[in-house]
Amino acid sequence: MSLLWFLQSFFLFSSFLASASANTDDDAAQFEMFHRHAPQVYKNGTTLGPPKSQLERVKQLVHSDNARQQMISHRLVKRSSHRRNAYEFQDGNNNNYNVQPVDIPMRSAADTGAGQYFVSFRVGSPPQKFVLIADTGSDVTWMNCYYRPSPVCHRESCPNLDVTRRIFHASRSPTFKTIPCVSDLCKFDLSGSFSMDYCPTALSPCEFEYSYADGSRALGIFANETVTVGLELHKHRKKKLHNVLIGCSQINEGTVHAFDGVMGLGYSKHSFAVRVAKEFGYMFSYCLVDHLSPSNFANYLSFGRQSKGSKLHNMQYTKLILGVINPFYAVNVAGISIGGTMLKIPSEVWDIEGNGGVIIDSGTSLTALTELAYKPVIAALDPHLKNFQKLDIDIEELNYCFNATGFKESLVPKLAFHFADGAQFVPPVKSYVIDADDGVKCLGFTSIKWPGNSIIGNIMQQNHFWEFDLVGKKLGFAPSSCTMLESKV
Ligand SMILES: *[C@@H]1O[C@H](CO)[C@@H](O)[C@H](O)[C@H]1NC(C)=O
Ligand SMILES: *[C@@H]1O[C@H](CO)[C@@H](O)[C@H](O)[C@H]1NC(C)=O
Ligand SMILES: *[C@@H]1O[C@H](CO)[C@@H](O)[C@H](O)[C@H]1NC(C)=O
Repeated sequence: MSLLWFLQSFFLFSSFLASASANTDDDAAQFEMFHRHAPQVYKNGTTLGPPKSQLERVKQLVHSDNARQQMISHRLVKRSSHRRNAYEFQDGNNNNYNVQPVDIPMRSAADTGAGQYFVSFRVGSPPQKFVLIADTGSDVTWMNCYYRPSPVCHRESCPNLDVTRRIFHASRSPTFKTIPCVSDLCKFDLSGSFSMDYCPTALSPCEFEYSYADGSRALGIFANETVTVGLELHKHRKKKLHNVLIGCSQINEGTVHAFDGVMGLGYSKHSFAVRVAKEFGYMFSYCLVDHLSPSNFANYLSFGRQSKGSKLHNMQYTKLILGVINPFYAVNVAGISIGGTMLKIPSEVWDIEGNGGVIIDSGTSLTALTELAYKPVIAALDPHLKNFQKLDIDIEELNYCFNATGFKESLVPKLAFHFADGAQFVPPVKSYVIDADDGVKCLGFTSIKWPGNSIIGNIMQQNHFWEFDLVGKKLGFAPSSCTMLESKV
């Protein structure tokens, strides 16, 4: 009964919305994006909030990186032991995609309060607003949600509505349509996203349960919903995306409780990023402001070809490797040079088909190198920093720190990531010699065990524009100050 009602109101609604939405073929969808220390993200009574000092800030970042690295290495172990058959899907242009399903618990940037960049998100009809963690390591987008009658709440006692949190009220949105648990979508496609077997009646909603590394859980149901996005060119208009798969999370326990939810930017068959990108040329991009810039500074996560990207004349492109370590984005690094000299790093460190490989991740802050790459990088930078007094700071993972009195960036040679196809990523010095405390700088790399994946973290990605082309399988990048001013040029 209620499904029929939903469908009816949906059709009424969608015809109304279709007439209201702009012709957006050449446009890009924009989500406002903030760093976790921005006031838009702080919430009452949670562990989030402005760190008391720079040291505290860096500690938080390193702490959350640890949780994430464990998750990524977990995925890798699984990948090598349980390689399932890849399945394929096609986009609107008849391009085939190879997708490796994943079958391990998803742990997102929400682990231990680890979100780094947040986006504002409008979902439902009329739209309800949330601030979600932007996570290239998750494929599902979910938020706190209230839905009755719910099978989840029959088996476990759902908490009463907590008025201090933002909660999506499913009953107030006629476009909310649960995914039936008997559907193939639930039984097969979403099994990699932790859908549950529980299916008392054919129309019962498809349930999920995510377990996080710190023991937190999110339980809920999958649904299709309408997502409202702002546009880059038609700023006064909004576009409605219908039938976007979301998670309605009814029970959140542990640290995930502190967040509205997660926006999944990872890559997989039904991932949010692929779904939204589909409407905008299979492309998304972001420009990460310096995490030390004024904290109320916002940026955009965009789906579609951002006009800003096409105005950057010095874009370089490298191959984007999709579907090998879902839902992560991998790149083919061939080596690292410092001051123009290639470092001696065994090539297996970069081999994604073997035991290594490099992923580019929005949810990890520091750049993590397997020890086979970490040691040569530190050894090559050390002679230039010899004259500074080494310091032990209270962060175990950062083991090269020094008294920065008299430090100038010009003392440090340029570090470059060389991609196999010739592109070179040359980050600014401040992205790898980072401020750790008053008058203290550290080399911003952490060492991880070999074998393992290296991770280009978000501090390294700062002050660059990044464009993920999911059809062309290209990653474009160019230096940028990431300020609004520049996007209006
Ligand atoms: C928490 O929220 C309440 C009401 O919104 C407000 O009055 C109070 O000042 C807030 N507390 C903090 C520490 O931000
Ligand atoms: C959900 O949306 C997808 C398309 O995005 C569609 O194929 C599917 O039938 C929808 N399911 C429901 C229950 O609305
Ligand atoms: C760094 O060195 C200067 C002068 O040598 C000293 O005054 C300062 O306290 C030192 N800072 C730290 C954090 O050790």
